[in-house]
Amino acid sequence: MNVYDSEMFGRVLRPMGYVPAETFEDADLVIVNTCSVRKKAEEKAFSFIGRLNKLKRKNPELVVAVGGCVAQQEGAALVSRFPWVDIVFGTRAVGRLPELLRRFEELKTRVVDVTMDTGLIEALPDHDHDRTPDVSRFVTIMRGCDNFCSYCIVPHVRGRETSRTPENIIREIEKLVANGAREVTLLGQNVNSYGLKEKICSFPDLLRKVAQIDGLFRIRFATSHPKDLSDDLIRAYGELDKLCDHIHLPVQSGSDRILSLMNRRYTREVYISRIERLRQVRPDISVSSDMIVGFPGETDEDFKMTLDLVDTVKFDGLFAFKYSDRPPAPAVGFSDKVPDLVKSQRLEALLALEKTYSRKNNDRYIGRVEQVLVEGLSKKNVKEDEIQYSGRTSSNKVVNFMGTGAESYKGKVGKIVQVSIEKAFPHSLWGKER
Ligand code: 5AD
Ligand code: SF4
Repeated sequence: MNVYDSEMFGRVLRPMGYVPAETFEDADLVIVNTCSVRKKAEEKAFSFIGRLNKLKRKNPELVVAVGGCVAQQEGAALVSRFPWVDIVFGTRAVGRLPELLRRFEELKTRVVDVTMDTGLIEALPDHDHDRTPDVSRFVTIMRGCDNFCSYCIVPHVRGRETSRTPENIIREIEKLVANGAREVTLLGQNVNSYGLKEKICSFPDLLRKVAQIDGLFRIRFATSHPKDLSDDLIRAYGELDKLCDHIHLPVQSGSDRILSLMNRRYTREVYISRIERLRQVRPDISVSSDMIVGFPGETDEDFKMTLDLVDTVKFDGLFAFKYSDRPPAPAVGFSDKVPDLVKSQRLEALLALEKTYSRKNNDRYIGRVEQVLVEGLSKKNVKEDEIQYSGRTSSNKVVNFMGTGAESYKGKVGKIVQVSIEKAFPHSLWGKER
């Protein structure tokens, strides 16, 4: 999502003559795109903004802008804390960036725009001037979130859910495909509720429309909420070949008591049964998830339930985080905070358990022939005559492989090739093209 938003800053500014700079020293404008979902991300953003002071002292003409969730949350406080910041723009102000820049140039006073009300995502430019030839691209289909999980800052900094129209989304994807994209990932905080409020089109129907785009090979999406994973979406997995064999379905905890405190509105049984149904329709589907350890009040017993869930679902990948307070999320006020040491121990135990499953899940690919969408060269290219490529399976496994044929490097990128898998590692596979 942040990659897409950063791309959007570029697209919005290109008509003003801005182009990406090679180095920080070459830049006339630096935009910091910030994330505040976890404390660590916010701290990273603050420390980066802090370091920009040196750059500004070297080049007083440099314009420093800060956007994203930290900007939305902090507003004018950012300018007081970091006087070298010139522009602060919130999550719904991206389209107004040119106007904010002009205002700053003319008045030479700091500009802060964190208004939330004008969420016109349709007004943002699409990929007309975009020459990035990447095979796999992101497309935002909705913004904001209405779920209010008790630990989460997102609804507070990104506002309520708003969906783009299907026509607009399709047009953007068609342009990306004309430009070389073969795979798109549809993005939203909770894509399962796409279009419901606006009654424009359901998410499975959007998938059906996107699947009709010629030249597009693969469709992915992120992120979905387990409570909204509908029967119709499961049906779409059965119908649409282009829909990849992978789902990222954040579960957050394996304990019903903690899930309820988190305001997730599903139980572990519901989660497990939805995964089972998906596996009935797509036996080979890979499943990844997000988990939080050390949520306020989480006991050893609750954490055991989380480990037990991992044993049951056998995830292919897991992003696990230590709980951190994110004001104004309500969990900030919850009692029985878990000490940091306990959180660290739980995180380590969870990741160690998960690693055994991601390894085992990868092992089952050895000896198989997989369809791999080639994305580029592998980082390891040892010999000149044997080029190693990199791509992904439909199930989102990274595959590094030895290519065959006299085709030039560029000729292979963007194609789906057959690869015999010979080795498996915890986070990737290795093979040879057939
Ligand atoms: N503390 C720790 N992790 C969090 N996440 C969201 N809010 C918090 C928080 N306060 C995690 C969730 C979410 C992912 C994007 O970040 O697991 O799915
Ligand atoms: Fe945050 Fe919950 Fe919304 Fe995800 S669904 S963005 S965790 S509030």
